[in-house]
Amino acid sequence: MQRGYVPLLYFVAILGLEAVMWKECRIIEVLRNKLVYQQRLQYMKHYFPINYTVNVQFEEVLRTANISKLRDQNVDELSLRYLWLNVNSQVLLKIWAVLLEKHPSWEYTQDLCHLFETLAEEYENYNQENVDSIIWDLVERILIADAGSSQKAMRPKALMDNCAKVMSMLYNKQCK
Ligand SMILES: *[C@@H]1O[C@H](CO)[C@@H](O)[C@H](O)[C@H]1NC(C)=O
Ligand SMILES: *[C@@H]1O[C@H](CO)[C@@H](O)[C@H](O)[C@H]1NC(C)=O
Repeated sequence: MQRGYVPLLYFVAILGLEAVMWKECRIIEVLRNKLVYQQRLQYMKHYFPINYTVNVQFEEVLRTANISKLRDQNVDELSLRYLWLNVNSQVLLKIWAVLLEKHPSWEYTQDLCHLFETLAEEYENYNQENVDSIIWDLVERILIADAGSSQKAMRPKALMDNCAKVMSMLYNKQCK
């Protein structure tokens, strides 16, 4: 191997990561504005019937406490963001699926789904080697959920509150 090759590769890898982070942060910025409390309240609570719930898998209830626990198990930040992204993509699709096109929350939910799709594209090249095995297994379980997996009835706003809180936890430092 030529001299200087390794440092160069290292440099490119760092630059690559920073470019990804920059793109990611721009999407997070848009998400942050869309997920402010007032909008969550309006689109995910007021426009739904009282106490309305959607069924999600147990693993899709991802709270800040889950993240703390996983951090204690030394799961890296990239894997945690990968988990958050996958959980909320699924959750949003489930909320969107119960809405008719004329529903006042339809467009808002669609926008969120698209933002998560865009975010997922940034992670397309991540595979089993990049993601912590605990997280990889968890995400697989979520994605190949069969009808027999345990379900939990959750209010849409509670799901989006979790989404927003975990987002702050995972991105506040990286994307001030
Ligand atoms: C909604 O849930 C609360 C408890 O969480 C309950 O006190 C209230 O009666 C419920 N309202 C309706 C309309 O079901
Ligand atoms: C989060 O924690 C709850 C309660 O401990 C658990 O049921 C759920 O499976 C956890 N979710 C994830 C994604 O780890």
